[in-house]
Amino acid sequence: MNNFIFQNKTKVYFGKNSVKEYLGNVLDQYGEVVMLAYGGGSIKRNGVYDDVMGILNQKKKRVVEFSGIMSNPTYAKVQEGAALARENHVDLILAVGGGSVSDCCKIVSAQAMLDEDIWEMQTVKHTYPSKFIPLAAIVTVFGTGSEMNNGAVITNEEKKIKGALLGAQADVAFLDPEYSMSVPFQQVISGAFDTLSHAMETYFGKPEENNLSDDINEAVMRSVIRNIRVLLKDENNYEARSELAWASAMAENSILKIGKVTDFQAHMIEHQLGAYTNCNHGAGLAVIHPVLYRHIYKSGAARFARFAQNVWGVEAKANEEKTALAGIDALAAFIKEIGLPTTFAELGIPEDTDLRVVADSTVVTAGCCKKLTHDEIYDILKECR
Ligand code: NZQ
Ligand code: ZN
Repeated sequence: MNNFIFQNKTKVYFGKNSVKEYLGNVLDQYGEVVMLAYGGGSIKRNGVYDDVMGILNQKKKRVVEFSGIMSNPTYAKVQEGAALARENHVDLILAVGGGSVSDCCKIVSAQAMLDEDIWEMQTVKHTYPSKFIPLAAIVTVFGTGSEMNNGAVITNEEKKIKGALLGAQADVAFLDPEYSMSVPFQQVISGAFDTLSHAMETYFGKPEENNLSDDINEAVMRSVIRNIRVLLKDENNYEARSELAWASAMAENSILKIGKVTDFQAHMIEHQLGAYTNCNHGAGLAVIHPVLYRHIYKSGAARFARFAQNVWGVEAKANEEKTALAGIDALAAFIKEIGLPTTFAELGIPEDTDLRVVADSTVVTAGCCKKLTHDEIYDILKECR
């Protein structure tokens, strides 16, 4: 096991009615002004807004609304939120939504306390914020696991980069699977695939030798696969939805990453594709993963073979490479089975998208078993078409 430091500060309230039961007590611990942040309005249609607002009013909070946070949140939206938080001397940011709302609020929380531009600070000076407006998250769509970490993925439209910034980590997160029952089914599946992707991107990192994190990871992957299959037969199965909700947090709360250098090459490619096309995150990953893996598996054949056998139940073939390939085939078949796109055309990526600039602006990761060149990434992107 590599050396590591581990802490996860987010207190999780998980399950049915967790917001109704505990949000009031949590709010008592913060000041009067609460910024209620949300997306395009789903929370107004499914009753979550009324639940939360009722509790805020009961606790006599002054509520500042920050709405319209879009999927794949932009840097301009972060700046709008930071200005609003500063003007109103916000004591707590309450992020109600999915990864997009949570990510946007993490950076709002940091930017509001800074005199300098947080993008320049992190990407040019490589310095990181240390002061934050406290953040709490109420998750309404699962998949990213954003609620238990301090990473945020923000699209800088001017620079054409969808990049990771570090911001606040939520003190408290409410995960009520019932709040996700109104999520369109396609999004439920693409969110669950995002979770599977996070687990795979960690599992295929380094080192490849046996360690506890990988054993736990295999259990998470098998659980995600099993529960997606339950939902295919029974969309509203609460047990399966709640298992996927916790798997989503487990895949991104650092536990699986302990002692590992993660891969995340598929994510880096998808993020840049997103910067140019604004595509759906989980669906974009579904197209990229099998193509990327067929390109790199020979450099990590033992690990891919273990993935095939322990996650997909593939029987050992004549040699390691054949077993490895059968696992990737199983992954590709699963993506088809669950109705996610398998090509950029199916994903709705415009044919004239300049894949060369997407490739050239993609970050090459150190944890991938094969260190890719930008030309190879371009080949992978062309194969995804
Ligand atoms: O905006 P509203 O109207 O709320 O609609 C949202 C949005 O259209 C809808 N939705 C959310 N809860 C709902 C609901 N619809 C009905 N009922 C509900 N209960 O779902 C749509 C998608 O929401 P979004 O937050 O965009 O999805 P997701 O959670 O997948 O987040 C995607 C973003 O997270 C980033 C992605 O790159 C992308 O920008 N990621 C963040 C990570 C992190 N911080 O750890 C890790 C991931 O790898 C990922 O990159
Ligand atoms: Zn992801």
